[in-house]
Amino acid sequence: MTVSMSEAPDILSEAHGRDPYSSYRILLEDFPVVFHPGTSAWLVSRHEDITRVMKSKEMSSEHYAAQIEPVHGRTIIQLEGKEHTMHRRLLAPFFRGNGLEAFKPTIEEVAESLVARLVDDQDAAVRGADGRAEVDLSRAFFKPFPITVIERMLALPSADHENFSRWYRDIMGFIGNLAGAAEPIALGLQARKELTDYFLPLIDERRKGTGTDLLTLMCQAEVDGDHLTREEVRAFVSLMLVAGGETTDGALGNMFMNLIKNPDQLAAVYEDRSLIVDAFAETLRHTPPVHLSARQPLADIELGDVTIPAGATIFCMIGAANRDPRKFADPERFDIFRTDNDTSRAFSAAADHLGFINGRHFCVGAMLAKAEIEIGANAVLDRMTDLRFADGFVPQEAGLFTRGLDSLRVTFIPA
Ligand code: HEM
Repeated sequence: MTVSMSEAPDILSEAHGRDPYSSYRILLEDFPVVFHPGTSAWLVSRHEDITRVMKSKEMSSEHYAAQIEPVHGRTIIQLEGKEHTMHRRLLAPFFRGNGLEAFKPTIEEVAESLVARLVDDQDAAVRGADGRAEVDLSRAFFKPFPITVIERMLALPSADHENFSRWYRDIMGFIGNLAGAAEPIALGLQARKELTDYFLPLIDERRKGTGTDLLTLMCQAEVDGDHLTREEVRAFVSLMLVAGGETTDGALGNMFMNLIKNPDQLAAVYEDRSLIVDAFAETLRHTPPVHLSARQPLADIELGDVTIPAGATIFCMIGAANRDPRKFADPERFDIFRTDNDTSRAFSAAADHLGFINGRHFCVGAMLAKAEIEIGANAVLDRMTDLRFADGFVPQEAGLFTRGLDSLRVTFIPA
């Protein structure tokens, strides 16, 4: 059966951009599997259906070849089968367990120095007569934080920071350019060229080096005789910028927005810092940084009474599934104490929420993200007490694929 799109919400509309959660409610109830002519993709919204898609062996992520390969090259996110398994075995150990522990001091250093600048530098935060300071947490901390962490993990010279940030901006501009405008395409392709010219000689150097930085480790990693080529390392670094940059920034911004909107829960987190991970897990469900994940079925797949044909594009609507009332009680409510989004498995492929998706492409950086959020949030809560939105400030999320805040103006009492 083919369902008409006439009454289903248009995910490219301005209304959806402003408030996707209202359209998700309609999709979940009335159009759980529906063709969307504007993107030529099938929208799948319910938790159970997305889980089936993600776990199906007859599913490919080749869609990303068109969307992101032009700027990154071929990367793990679009690979399947043995090639995908090989990349995961080589890369995953750096982002969890002992591999990750080694980088935690670097993450702490970056977080503390960025927050110290905000609190101690009189020019960075505007001071009011009442002793409160005002700052844009998103622009001054959450955006630079993950990119600086990645630079430091890769041990890039700090003099290259401006270039690295510019490549990040231009690659993000390319990926978010749904309208296909000429300038973002040109800037994105130029960034790929410059990033390639910069990294290939560096990769050749690090392949022979004795450093313990992530770039050296990735260049030299070997499992059962397999290793990554210089092009594969370069492409992964490029992907990591996007996969680990905007997502972590979005998660921190959305989490603090949710907490400030719920002062009782913010007070509980100030008091008991172990609740930061609960707040992060609940943010991954309630206001996830990634709202959509694309797949292509290799064979016809039946979801409910709809058959999606082989080769079609499926958009798994993560943001909708995370508010599916069949899975979560009172799903619109942000509640760090809820029991149906179990924090103990929220950073694994067995998570209740789908913020990192599940199945074989489950986010490789989930534990790194968790470390960054815990460290980043602690740095904020240690030095900024009584956080509130700045007078008149109303946070506005933006984005269709990835979603977060451009700005989060807050006031606080410096500690
Ligand atoms: C809160 C932060 C993060 C969120 C919400 C997030 C979310 C996701 C999602 C939804 C996917 C699946 C994409 C798909 O297959 O359609 C994914 C994959 C991935 N993520 Fe993350 N991510 C985060 C942080 C990170 C970080 C810090 C890294 C750094 C290494 C990272 C690296 C990756 C990689 C390499 C993949 C592809 C894995 C594969 O295809 O096997 N992510 N992430």
